[in-house]
Amino acid sequence: MMFDFTAKMICNYDESKTPEKLKENYSAFLSGLISFPLNIPGTSYWKCLKGRERARKTLRNMLLERLASPEREHKDIMDFIIQEMKKDDTIVTEEIAVDLLFGLPFGANETTSSTLIFAVQYLGSHPSALAEITREHESILRNRKQKDSGITWEEYKSMSFTMMVVNETVRMGSILPSIFRKVDKDIEIKGYTIPAGWMVLVSPPAAHFNPNVHKDPHVFNPWRWQGQEPTSGSNALMGFGGGIKLCAGVDFAKLQIAIFLHHLVTKYRWEVIKGGEVVWRQSTGPIFPNGFHVRISEKTK
Ligand code: HEM
Repeated sequence: MMFDFTAKMICNYDESKTPEKLKENYSAFLSGLISFPLNIPGTSYWKCLKGRERARKTLRNMLLERLASPEREHKDIMDFIIQEMKKDDTIVTEEIAVDLLFGLPFGANETTSSTLIFAVQYLGSHPSALAEITREHESILRNRKQKDSGITWEEYKSMSFTMMVVNETVRMGSILPSIFRKVDKDIEIKGYTIPAGWMVLVSPPAAHFNPNVHKDPHVFNPWRWQGQEPTSGSNALMGFGGGIKLCAGVDFAKLQIAIFLHHLVTKYRWEVIKGGEVVWRQSTGPIFPNGFHVRISEKTK
């Protein structure tokens, strides 16, 4: 659902209306992303390269089609990229445009959906947090002037507890077990020198579960973020990365999660049927080998 929605926002892509299988190609690309580089048919690496090639081809064809019929507006990210391409002093070539279009669904793939699974799990097993977030969203509905309107920007900005839940979920969920940085000048740290040119593997969970940074780090406690600026990149919360390579989709992801939780807690209740076990892989982050099965029922008014 998250992939389909994001692909629609990026390039109005609708899998049901095309024979191209963008999602399938992304999955192939992702599953071979960190694999032994043996490029012969059948290996994960080969599938990864093929997935990337096919997904880029689909996106390039869509871009070229749109460039050929500029009169139609789609109001998606591809339209913005095309506007940039047409500027006189542009640096956005066709290659860069395809890279941008390819990179965004990649960043959005499985990050937001895994975070949502964790949010549903954590809330389901912490009744006080579930009660608090439900109170926040029911109060939004109660105070809404036009009852059948969608969520407004003001309502979204008032979701302070929800943002604490997102932070806490990202802290405990740590979707990306590691991120890489290149050292551009010698760094002295605790008596060691990391020489310029080295790669450093930064581990967000090491900060997220450090008891000197977070009291009782293994406890799901959204209230620990109370009164703190809901910052996305800090030493306490590195789930969205940090610095100049901070997640480009952080605000979009938070918005998606908040909207999903709004509908979930105001309209539905759920019980876990089976699954939910998590395995962390360096290449893919968390995976749920047995899925996470819940029975959802509508709340009675
Ligand atoms: C809960 C959901 C998400 C999480 C936890 C997450 C996490 C991250 C992290 C940790 C990084 C930094 C990687 C690094 O430093 O090497 C990153 C980068 C990035 N993310 Fe996300 N992400 C999420 C959702 C999204 C979404 C929805 C999009 C796109 C719509 C997106 C697009 C990107 C892009 C383009 C980058 C690269 C930024 C750059 O290199 O300048 N992410 N994300």
